[in-house]
Amino acid sequence: MRPLHIVILAAGKGTRMRSEQSKVLHRLAGRPLIDHVLDAGAAVSPASVTVVVGHQAEAVKAALEKRGCLFALQEPQSGTGHALLQAESALRGAQGDVLLLSGDVPLLRGETVAALVDVHRRAGAAATVLTAEIHDPSGYGRIVRNSSTGQIERIVEHKDATEAERAIREINSGIFVFDLGPLFASLRKIGTSNAQNEYYLPDLVALYRREGLTVETMKLSGADEIRGVNSRSELAALSRDARLRKCEELMAAGVTIEDPATTYIDSTVEVGADTTIHPNVSLEGTTRIGARCDIHSGSRLVNAVVADDVLIRNHTVVTDATIDAKATVGPFAHIRPESSIGAHAHVGNFVELKKTSLGAGAKANHLAYLGDATIGERVNVGAGTITCNYDGEKKHQTVIE
Ligand code: UD1
Ligand code: CA
Repeated sequence: MRPLHIVILAAGKGTRMRSEQSKVLHRLAGRPLIDHVLDAGAAVSPASVTVVVGHQAEAVKAALEKRGCLFALQEPQSGTGHALLQAESALRGAQGDVLLLSGDVPLLRGETVAALVDVHRRAGAAATVLTAEIHDPSGYGRIVRNSSTGQIERIVEHKDATEAERAIREINSGIFVFDLGPLFASLRKIGTSNAQNEYYLPDLVALYRREGLTVETMKLSGADEIRGVNSRSELAALSRDARLRKCEELMAAGVTIEDPATTYIDSTVEVGADTTIHPNVSLEGTTRIGARCDIHSGSRLVNAVVADDVLIRNHTVVTDATIDAKATVGPFAHIRPESSIGAHAHVGNFVELKKTSLGAGAKANHLAYLGDATIGERVNVGAGTITCNYDGEKKHQTVIE
């Protein structure tokens, strides 16, 4: 099997985001854009992954610290062709093919990437472009095909395109597979005489065609997954799609979601069957919810672990805490980090727990602050109860057996 390497372009400033932060670090469904791209790439078990960084390079590297990537620095950022060239030393001596991904295309599916590599290899192509036919191609590079053979001839950027070329609805996704053999020598031949004075990676297509190398395409019918994030408005649109995708997945697995449009569930969250999620709920991070729970409107759970048959009433906030089976929590409860609520326990309105474990069957039904406390089974905490845990210098434990 030929080795497959991945290069992800992530050096650009993302001018249209109007942000101090690198575009690829903006979050979609709770995680940086580039994290989603790495997940899609994992589907083809790459021999190596090189991320080309430039703008905010240190921050991008730090965000990817645990993902085992190589890095190449692009300085200055003078175009996508120049960006890929910077990966040359990271790939020195490597054989096989390179899958090129963009750090700003977060909805890409693993299956699509695998199919693209397949098309490339079956054709024995020098380059294979993932394209899509879309309704509004504005801003994208257009695929120009030979009028008689239908073969791809070149890619023209929106800013460089004529009126006639702008009418073409087949666009460049920015995702390619390249045979490593001719790649880097050819990239050096790309020029900058275009509207943006940049080295355009898509120019390789025309160059390869002139040299008689095979350029293949794979066209997607729907284009949802290859949309890039270039502005905050696109970030919002793609975030909505990612959320709907997650809701669809959960509903297919037996979760009732009353209003997917207002339900915010990160891709990393798990929810058990026959749980009902009411409108305006956020489930974030590593949250895991069991079966047959009810999560009412206005609640936000971050890294929470919730067992089966739990009832979370309206406007409850839970962060880094666990709730055992058949407990009821809320409305208006605040369960802060390192807290645990035992099985069958009741936590009612305006109750705050911090670093507190509430035993099985215990109750704190109204208006209480329980901090740094261990509260035993079946204890009934009355309204207005406060554990005085702080004397101005030290935190103190309260134990109620
Ligand atoms: C690019 C393609 C366009 C395609 C579109 C798909 C080029 C010239 N154009 O346009 O044909 O339809 O993607 O989304 O390739 N980057 C670098 N270094 C640079 C410039 C960009 O690393 O010097 C990175 C960016 O961080 C980004 C990716 O390359 O992750 C794409 O750059 P972007 O400026 O968004 O290209 P588009 O204008 O969208
Ligand atoms: Ca883009």
